[in-house]
Amino acid sequence: MGLLSSILVVANLLCFLFKICYGVDSISPSQPLSDGNIIVSTEGKFVLGFFSPGSSKNRYLGIWYQSIPVQTVVWVANRVSPINDSSGILMINSTGNLNLIHNDSVVWSASTLKEAQSPLLQLLDTGNLVVTDGNSGDYLWQSFDYPSDTILAGMKHGWDLKRRLNRRLIAWKNWDDPSPGNFIFEMTLHNYPEAYLWQGSTIYFRTGPWNGYGFSGSPGLKSNPVFAFEFVYNQDEIYFMYTLKQALLSRALPNQTNSMFQRFTWTEQSWKLYASLPIDRCDTYALCGVYARCLVTDSPVCQCLKGFKPKSEKGWDSMDWSQGCVRSKPLSCEDKSTHGFLTFPGLKLPDTTHSWVNTSMNLKECRAECLNNCSCMAYTNSDIKEGTGCAIWFGDLVDIKQFPAGGQDLYIRMHPSELGMEDGHKKKITVLVVCSVVIASGMLLASYLILRIRKNLKEKMERSRTTGHSSRGKEEDMELPMFDLSTISRATDDFSLNNKLGEGGFGPVYKGVLDGQEIAVKRLSRSSGQGQNEFKNEVILIAKLQHRNLVKLLGCCIEGEEKMLVYEYMPNKSLDFFIFDETKGKAVDWSKRFQIICGIARGLLYLHQDSRLRIVHRDLKASNILLDSEMNPKISDFGMARIFGGDQTEGNTNRVVGTYGYMAPEYAFDGLYSTKSDVFSFGILLMEIVSGKKSRGLYHQDQKGNLIGHAWRLWKEGRPLELMDACLTDSNNLSEVLRCIHVSLLCVQQRADDRPSLSTVLLMLGSESVLPQPKEPGFFIDKGPHDANSSSSKNESSSTNEVTITLLDPR
Ligand SMILES: *[C@@H]1O[C@H](CO)[C@@H](O)[C@H](O)[C@H]1NC(C)=O
Ligand SMILES: *[C@@H]1O[C@H](CO)[C@@H](O)[C@H](O)[C@H]1NC(C)=O
Ligand SMILES: *[C@@H]1O[C@H](CO)[C@@H](O)[C@H](O)[C@H]1NC(C)=O
Ligand SMILES: *[C@@H]1O[C@H](CO)[C@@H](O)[C@H](O)[C@H]1NC(C)=O
Ligand SMILES: *[C@@H]1O[C@H](CO)[C@@H](O)[C@H](O)[C@H]1NC(C)=O
Ligand SMILES: *[C@@H]1O[C@H](CO)[C@@H](O)[C@H](O)[C@H]1NC(C)=O
Repeated sequence: MGLLSSILVVANLLCFLFKICYGVDSISPSQPLSDGNIIVSTEGKFVLGFFSPGSSKNRYLGIWYQSIPVQTVVWVANRVSPINDSSGILMINSTGNLNLIHNDSVVWSASTLKEAQSPLLQLLDTGNLVVTDGNSGDYLWQSFDYPSDTILAGMKHGWDLKRRLNRRLIAWKNWDDPSPGNFIFEMTLHNYPEAYLWQGSTIYFRTGPWNGYGFSGSPGLKSNPVFAFEFVYNQDEIYFMYTLKQALLSRALPNQTNSMFQRFTWTEQSWKLYASLPIDRCDTYALCGVYARCLVTDSPVCQCLKGFKPKSEKGWDSMDWSQGCVRSKPLSCEDKSTHGFLTFPGLKLPDTTHSWVNTSMNLKECRAECLNNCSCMAYTNSDIKEGTGCAIWFGDLVDIKQFPAGGQDLYIRMHPSELGMEDGHKKKITVLVVCSVVIASGMLLASYLILRIRKNLKEKMERSRTTGHSSRGKEEDMELPMFDLSTISRATDDFSLNNKLGEGGFGPVYKGVLDGQEIAVKRLSRSSGQGQNEFKNEVILIAKLQHRNLVKLLGCCIEGEEKMLVYEYMPNKSLDFFIFDETKGKAVDWSKRFQIICGIARGLLYLHQDSRLRIVHRDLKASNILLDSEMNPKISDFGMARIFGGDQTEGNTNRVVGTYGYMAPEYAFDGLYSTKSDVFSFGILLMEIVSGKKSRGLYHQDQKGNLIGHAWRLWKEGRPLELMDACLTDSNNLSEVLRCIHVSLLCVQQRADDRPSLSTVLLMLGSESVLPQPKEPGFFIDKGPHDANSSSSKNESSSTNEVTITLLDPR
């Protein structure tokens, strides 16, 4: 020991005085680790060594990232027994046990599952510190079994039931003290397991049980392009685990101070908050007591479930919901077979402390099982992904959250008088269904007849109109107001420059006031190739397109050469006005942006699919998305291609409308347009909303590419989140941001067939399902170095691009 300690003293001196530290791959019985030295993981991502946290002088043995400049400790050995100087030594003895020694006494130790022959301690690149024996790959001990506060990719959070080992996460006391603090995140041993976040001895939040997709109350913990989540529940183990699908640094831990379980990812040289739990106030455990649901968009947030009433009206009225609710009609066990169940959709399942699960039963068997035992209060499928399994609840149901969207069904036991139509009234329903089918088909027939009659009428009127019998303003079927030029002229102050809102592709737009209502007047440039009647017919058709995400056409004006469209006025101008401006961009936070994205998608879906005309917009861009007073998006300029006679066959399209930067390649090059070219433009718009950068004007230091190219490069390099607008970094819904980036790349794929339809886009935006990998985008001019294999084809297409751009750019 004498020689060894003098060697160690010299090594320490070297390390401290000259910063020549001695990093090793592993330690063995003959080679201990002293303070000042480190073990580097197999590929250099992590190190094991001694450190002092924050402003403390104490020394701890721990693991931190080697590859980043901010020391971030993910594991601590001697959390509760600090060493007060730098003479600590980690030894592994000949049977594989670890001893942390200070002044000849053992400060911390770890024993292996069985005695080793030739033990070795190694730090793996996952951050797992393991004891192995000779060439056998088995871990006789691993730090992943004894987590501190951090869960890393590949680590199990939960129970090894055979060893009664509870791998739980306990926050540090504070930055200076890694000893166990107040917040604990652990997996419960309930029959239907879930994870609890404890604050001291009270439950602060629970994730809800695993339902096949994810934890019932934490939709954000589902698999996505970056993370894969796994939940294992069997006789031997109950655990939750995540793995990374992309090369990035990510860790999750309970916060020391603010009762949150948070995930951070390392981007742009710092740890960014990626997601945190609980999500909102309704996640506060048992906020509403029993038999009440919490809906965060409601006021007050707590409401008794249907068929229940507040236990204490007084408490309830003063917003003390802790006593919860009781049944309006109490149940009695004698007549249990007459009970039924009401379906409560959209929930986070209640607390599972008193639950029971059978994974091989179906829903019908589950219902029977629940009905048969009068202490059973509710049941549902234990796995809603497969639609299988049975979970049932005994006793009062507590901590039920209602999601504004999503969530799952729960079937709650009810007194027969509370059931209404829901259950045990199959006959009535059948009769009703038959009746309604008969009525519905009758109505269909009738409306068909009416339509026929109207069509005939209309054709007749059309004929009479073209022969000059009717005049403006007298048509009976004219549902769209026609305005005189003099009226519009007065409303816009004679088209004064002061009232000019902007210049669109089809002519200038003026603000005006008509009968006290603010309006926007689009004065179409005279080049429209249509005659008056054609124009009027088009406008009437387009006026019939009504959707809350389309700008409403109020009327039109045709007089001589003048053609004008009168729209509702949008006080918040257009989207480009906000997202491309650093200061105004801050006013539109991520949740607002996401609402805008979904609104645009819904409006576009209506144009493509749900409206009678099936319109391809052909000029979707940020300046064509107007915003009302509540920042709801409204698509404008739809149908302009129709009005401007853009309906020629593909062969003779002599005018390509649209804007460079948004145009799909097949449309720009070949004039081929389809709903899929709109999808392309939508993808670009999505990128712009996420990044706050214009599709055209992105110049990055050493990357000359456009926005698509930039997005694609970041995606390929596994850093997609770097596309995000700098003023959005406070957003804690990074998985949503990531999803939008992913969807945008799917929308701008080179081949129109590869792009999703708008209905698929909406599904993708709204769900957590796994998305396909995007292929290389269209219009991607890669001027950077790239592999030889693909360079020839790329050069070809990029030269085509450049030629086309000069020919096309219409504005
Ligand atoms: C360090 O702790 C030991 C006991 O473990 C104590 O005897 C010693 O005085 C302490 N040294 C300092 C510098 O505080
Ligand atoms: C290794 O250490 C453990 C406990 O620290 C002890 O029980 C065991 O006897 C030691 N083995 C040897 C060979 O010293
Ligand atoms: C080591 O521990 C002994 C008692 O176990 C104590 O007397 C001594 O001061 C300690 N030495 C150091 C350097 O902490
Ligand atoms: C706790 O959360 C706050 C706010 O999100 C954050 O600034 C802080 O770094 C977190 N603490 C830890 C230990 O991660
Ligand atoms: C689960 O249900 C199946 C089918 O009803 C039954 O055969 C099995 O014994 C049940 N298992 C348990 C543990 O109750
Ligand atoms: C009903 O379920 C409870 C809880 O599992 C159990 O204790 C009780 O024995 C059951 N009663 C009947 C009649 O099966």
